[in-house]
Amino acid sequence: MKKLTFLDSLKNWKRKLRWDRQYKSGKWNYLFENEEEPRYNGIINAIKKYTENPKLLDLGAGEGVLRYKLKEQKSSLKYYCGVDFSQVSIKKAKKFNFDNSKFLVADLHYYTPEENYDAIIFNEAFYYINHKLKSDVLERVLSKLNTNGILIVSIFKEGEGCWEFFNHVDLKPLEFKKIESSKENRYWKLGVYRKKNLN
Ligand SMILES: C[S@@+](CC[C@H](N)C(=O)[O-])C[C@H]1O[C@@H](n2cnc3c(N)ncnc32)[C@H](O)[C@@H]1O
Repeated sequence: MKKLTFLDSLKNWKRKLRWDRQYKSGKWNYLFENEEEPRYNGIINAIKKYTENPKLLDLGAGEGVLRYKLKEQKSSLKYYCGVDFSQVSIKKAKKFNFDNSKFLVADLHYYTPEENYDAIIFNEAFYYINHKLKSDVLERVLSKLNTNGILIVSIFKEGEGCWEFFNHVDLKPLEFKKIESSKENRYWKLGVYRKKNLN
């Protein structure tokens, strides 16, 4: 497993503390609001379209907004696991006490999922991964995605230096689209990929 350099580890630790502070101050509460809805809906629609009663892994899950929306929409779910390195966000997410769900604190740079999943999601999280480790992180995560399982990636605006990683030999692109927010000048790109059967 590749590691962050000493300097990058320090930066990463400072960023984690910043996320904790921001979650504590309520800075990210707006993610529950209407203007963000199209992004969560895009992800939930892809889950419904390409999986059936899936096991879901949500990487960089924050306060569990996606899990909250899945519940609101009564989406069928076998199991959900949300991972984030911010203790504060995970503590908030756990308070919802969602059914069939687990939230854990882990740094994506070093996290290896314990089990296999039908759908893995990077919802506004992939671009926070250190560039030198992006490929390593993706490989580790893909090794835990079931064959024919789907990878869903949402990135704010253009996501420079990110999308090329999903042009991957194990992945077949299913969808790539722009999702507009109701707020002016805000949009996301959403990519959906299927893990190929390479046997
Ligand atoms: C913009 S928020 C998105 C939260 C959530 N996915 C959503 O859209 O509702 C990005 C999240 O990525 C998390 N994050 C950033 N770097 C991370 C890392 N190295 N390991 C785990 N989580 C990380 C942050 O703590 C934050 O919760």
